[in-house]
Amino acid sequence: MVAKTKKLFGNDEGRKLIARVLRENGRRYMPRYALAFGLMAVVSGLTGASAWIIKNIVNDVFISQNSALIWGIAAGVLVIYSGRGIADYAQTTVMNAISRDIVADHQNRIYRHLLAQDMRFFNTASIGELVMYFSNGAHAVANLMHLLITSLGRDLLSLISLTAVMVAMDPILSMIAFLVAPGALWGITSIRRRIRNIGRQEHAGMAIIIGRLKDSMIGIRVVKSFGLEQRMGDEMTGNVNVTAQRMMKINNLSARSGPIMETLVGVALGLTILYAGFGVAEGSRDAGSLLAFLTALLFTYAPAKNLARLTLNLETTLVGVGVMYKFLDRTPLYLDKPDAKPLIVGTGEIEIDGVSFTYGEASNALNDISVRFPAGKVSALVGGSGAGKSTIFALIERFYDPQSGRILIDGQNILDVTAQSLRSNIALVNQDSFLFEGSVEDNIRAGMADATEDQVVAAAKAANAHEFIVEHPEGYKRSVGEGGANLSGGQRQRVTIARAMLRDAPILLLDEATSALDAVSEARVRDALDRLMKGRTTIVIAHRLATVRKADIIHVMDNGRLVESGTHGELMKLSGTYAHLSSLQFTAEAEEEPQKKKRKAKLTTVGE
Ligand SMILES: Nc1ncnc2c1ncn2[C@@H]1O[C@H](COP(=O)(O)OP(=O)(O)O)[C@@H](O)[C@H]1O
Ligand SMILES: [Mg+2]
Repeated sequence: MVAKTKKLFGNDEGRKLIARVLRENGRRYMPRYALAFGLMAVVSGLTGASAWIIKNIVNDVFISQNSALIWGIAAGVLVIYSGRGIADYAQTTVMNAISRDIVADHQNRIYRHLLAQDMRFFNTASIGELVMYFSNGAHAVANLMHLLITSLGRDLLSLISLTAVMVAMDPILSMIAFLVAPGALWGITSIRRRIRNIGRQEHAGMAIIIGRLKDSMIGIRVVKSFGLEQRMGDEMTGNVNVTAQRMMKINNLSARSGPIMETLVGVALGLTILYAGFGVAEGSRDAGSLLAFLTALLFTYAPAKNLARLTLNLETTLVGVGVMYKFLDRTPLYLDKPDAKPLIVGTGEIEIDGVSFTYGEASNALNDISVRFPAGKVSALVGGSGAGKSTIFALIERFYDPQSGRILIDGQNILDVTAQSLRSNIALVNQDSFLFEGSVEDNIRAGMADATEDQVVAAAKAANAHEFIVEHPEGYKRSVGEGGANLSGGQRQRVTIARAMLRDAPILLLDEATSALDAVSEARVRDALDRLMKGRTTIVIAHRLATVRKADIIHVMDNGRLVESGTHGELMKLSGTYAHLSSLQFTAEAEEEPQKKKRKAKLTTVGE
């Protein structure tokens, strides 16, 4: 069997994949596979019997008209056929249940593995590929097991049982019929290689199509406002057509096994008839045996065809299985150390000590940064776009590990603690105010899963979100829509603030939104943020003058370096990067409220 398998699955990679699928799924579902296999053996045996009984039908019923046997034979036929039908049905339901479990099991595995991946993976991963692992890959494993078991169980056993009938009826005729078998193997092998190649292309093509669908959904505003519908539509037409073409080619190639097998059965039948015709004429055989033999030979067609197609079908499933395993085998970077301890936060002081970091680009995103964020105070990070501010947040959250230097929280190196304990002490409020699809309450509750209703409402009130939430008839149960599309920008921000409130973490990382809100929303968000920051070690990536002025200390970054630190007044006096930045970056606000701003500016100059 092993030697034969080697020949059929000519490539090493395919053999390894099959071995792995069998190893991972075979043992686990063994009892049920054994049951299915037993039922298939019954089906196969009865298939043989259904050919065998032809001999009795012809010889005893038609020729000798043995009335004593007619009843028995009629009953026998009934038992054989109904028994085979029932066994086949039972076998199918068992196999379907196993397939369902294998698919669910793999989808769970894929999703958990996805969540465990590090940021570097998500920077390059494509949603199209992910969907393919999730749907195509998971099903491919189930299909592969299904193919192997039914081929071995139903088809191979049927073939053996039918062969036994043929040999019993006429050994010499059987030898003649089997002469054609090698022809089948040769024909199938040449088709198989082509299918494998097209299968890979088809898989990659599908991933691209899914990715495009996602882009069109998320970026529909850009698509419409730039009038890209025609171009994107044409591009999709191209992709869809090419993929459909490949799919058709695969189906056509697989279908070629049909005429190959059919012709070979025809040749076998023809040879048999030629030989048997003369044999019977010589009176050496009875008509019943010959007909039983021919029936068995005809019955071999279906299982033989299935077996011939097995390797073809395996090729297409193996493509899906292969890419899915490649994903499942990816070890996430930045795993916890084996002896990692939970982070114990006292006051929540953060110290960054000589940290350099690169995303792998030519230049460093951070260059030898040393900075201390005092406990319970608000520190502002300012700097031009690409200065490295968000990267500092990413390193504190341990989304990446720095290439050199250390980050300490209350004296504990964050590389030595568990990522889970580190992140549970941090609340992140992001620029984009990301919301999950679900209700307002679900989104606030993401901050603390087991919060009571009162706690959720209290957090929403503190975030100035309660009023607008209860204004809507569905209140806290209102759906936010995909990505929070049902809420305005300011409302979304306040929901994310409520989420952070509920988390009640000692450390707050706040990436201030760059997009301007109207004056009223702005005031509500600002008020909510002030409340959120109170008593926490806060680092805020600041884009607004008002935030910067309120900070206890401001750190100015430029091109991955820390260039200035101090209060607003101190930094303005330096007339350095900060003074330059504030004249550029904070002007938008000055234009919004020219009167107020001028007055403020004057006051500070006078005060200092
Ligand atoms: N995921 C990433 N992969 C590669 N380079 C990145 C990534 N994120 C940021 N960078 C680069 O790192 C530098 C600092 O980026 P970032 O910290 O986001 O800046 P800021 O938040 O100050 O605008 C930039 O040069 C940026 O292009
Ligand atoms: Mg940024």
